[in-house]
Amino acid sequence: MKFHIQTWGCQMNDHDGEKLSGLLSAEGFEAVAEAGDADLVLLNTCSIREKAVHKVYSELGRLREEKQRRPLLVGVTGCLAQQEQAALFKRAPHIDFVLGTMALRQLPRLVAEAQAGRGRVIDTGEYPDNHLFPPQVARRRDTAKALVTIIEGCNHACTYCIVPTTRGTERSRPFADVVAEVRGLVEAGYREVELLGQNVNSYAGGCTFAELLARVAEVDGLEWLRFTTSHPMNFTRDLARELVTNPKVAPFLHLPLQSGSDRILKRMLREYTIDQYLERLGYLGEGRSRLALSTDFIVGFPGETDEDFEATMQVLETVQFDASFSFIYSPRPGTPSLRLKDDLPMPVKSERLARLQQRQAELTLASNRRFVGREIPVRIESRTATEQGWWLARSGEWKTIHLAAGPGRELPFGELVQARITQASPHFLGAELV
Ligand code: SAH
Ligand code: SF4
Ligand code: F3S
Repeated sequence: MKFHIQTWGCQMNDHDGEKLSGLLSAEGFEAVAEAGDADLVLLNTCSIREKAVHKVYSELGRLREEKQRRPLLVGVTGCLAQQEQAALFKRAPHIDFVLGTMALRQLPRLVAEAQAGRGRVIDTGEYPDNHLFPPQVARRRDTAKALVTIIEGCNHACTYCIVPTTRGTERSRPFADVVAEVRGLVEAGYREVELLGQNVNSYAGGCTFAELLARVAEVDGLEWLRFTTSHPMNFTRDLARELVTNPKVAPFLHLPLQSGSDRILKRMLREYTIDQYLERLGYLGEGRSRLALSTDFIVGFPGETDEDFEATMQVLETVQFDASFSFIYSPRPGTPSLRLKDDLPMPVKSERLARLQQRQAELTLASNRRFVGREIPVRIESRTATEQGWWLARSGEWKTIHLAAGPGRELPFGELVQARITQASPHFLGAELV
């Protein structure tokens, strides 16, 4: 049996895909790169915004046609599966099974039942041990950085967000499990690890998140430690100190803000004001200048006035984020923000988004330009050079680096090399090997 997993969404989902791949491999199934070569296609879905859901339905449409031509099992997992549950079968009757985000380990059973011809198999149960996957299960993609789950679910209740519905309440992995997994990864050759959760800094697996960072950083041979994502209200002084003083914690912080207007933040139930967010950033002290800082924005939230949006543009100037990810508000089923009046025309929302992204592009370019002339360590992330002769690499600040190594020179995948930054563009830094 050959399988193909197509994943959308965040790193959490990406890593779930690696766990699912491992579960199927353990059954003796073979992973293939193309859906067209597979007997089983598993769609590991995201439903954070309407667009993400469209992508899933369009792929399901394609698979329906393919299923008419040849035998094929189609499974759906991930956030859309948890959200829609059995309703997915109505929407797409050719789906063979639906697997929820908290029932991942039921995958082999569901596949076996689907293979045996039991139509429409489903498990969207909330298994309390879903986050306790044995470390050796995941079959990781060929990446220089390894993903490690430390906490699942979210106890916040942002009014626009589907995640608490699709991922359940917070469950933390015991810290000894996390440290053991990282130790195993370093033994297997990884030098960089990213700790994952919808909200990593509310970690409660026997120590605080700041303490967990310190413990994981002690693993011999680990070079860089990253984490994603943090909620500003759980961003403590201890965490800030660890981030700026621990040399193994990569100099990068993604701290989603969402809006520059207190009025909108309140409607979003983000639990902080702009001043409180800025206060949290202040915890970084002098160390702040060595970090790259990124954030998320939602534009056109119901009731967002010109004034509210100008406040968002203002905060961009105040903070000077190195990068930001911004999206137009997307109404999600069952979320509280659906009840808010949303009468702002879409062209106005699009215009606001374009303005924000335009200004951010300038700020990102300015941030990139500050690197020109510096020599910094970067990790090689590609196994071969591109057609243009660049090797792809990443800096600790999560900047994309296009590295020129010179003709015929091979660079060591996954290792750190010293690079001199020679040019800056809005999307990457050009560099030479030192
Ligand atoms: N747990 C993280 C966010 C996870 S979702 C946090 O709280 O920061 C990633 C990003 O998607 C969010 O930061 C938000 O900017 C965006 N997002 C979430 N729901 C959305 C919606 N309904 N419409 C538009 N963007 C949304
Ligand atoms: Fe969603 Fe808010 Fe939880 Fe982030 S903190 S996952 S935005 S509910
Ligand atoms: Fe998407 Fe679910 Fe992640 S909605 S962003 S895959 S938690």
